[in-house]
Amino acid sequence: MTIYLDTANLEEIKKANDWGVLGGVTTNPLLMAKEPLKVSETLHKISNLGFAEIFYQPHQTGWKEIVREAKLAKEIVGSSLVVKIPPLASSFPAVKALGAEQKICITAVFSVLQALLAKEVGATYVAIYVNRASRLLGDGLALTSDVAAVLGDSTTSIIAASIKSPQEAMQAYLSGAAHITLPFNVLERMFEHEVTKHVIEGFVKNGAGIL
Ligand code: E4P
Repeated sequence: MTIYLDTANLEEIKKANDWGVLGGVTTNPLLMAKEPLKVSETLHKISNLGFAEIFYQPHQTGWKEIVREAKLAKEIVGSSLVVKIPPLASSFPAVKALGAEQKICITAVFSVLQALLAKEVGATYVAIYVNRASRLLGDGLALTSDVAAVLGDSTTSIIAASIKSPQEAMQAYLSGAAHITLPFNVLERMFEHEVTKHVIEGFVKNGAGIL
């Protein structure tokens, strides 16, 4: 199980990285567009934080353009790069062109058939947009469960993406997602529990310590 932070915002990434729970960062063109720096500068600054995996999604969807952007991203990120590619016929040739050494995440997956294609092309990950699937198709968790059944014990694993609450993250994990990627506010809320808050307040108020 790996928890990723779903943002390109450097302040959020640095703050969440201090919690020691992140395996990496996932970005996409919309998240990159929100940041004030050039995409290459943002990617460079994220890369300087030393994550094991940094997911970059080329803005273009034609396979030749994807390959060009992926190679530029690789120059910045190095071996930590995971290239996100949409499940489009026009994009898929990029997987083979980038070679077996390059980790690939087939992203914006909304069907079991797309996940099956991702498995057959040898993708390391499929990113299921859970919340969007629930809103647009009815049940993103059922989709996650169906994809998990199809992927079985293959080397392709699910990243639950488009997660809007800690509860949705938990449900996606219980539905078969091997990994989750979370916006900063959702990750931060994972720490919270009313009973824990009450108990800790009691320790602070009535307890004693060395200091
Ligand atoms: C992963 O990085 C996805 O691009 C992201 O989780 C999509 O989430 P959204 O549905 O909020 O755009």
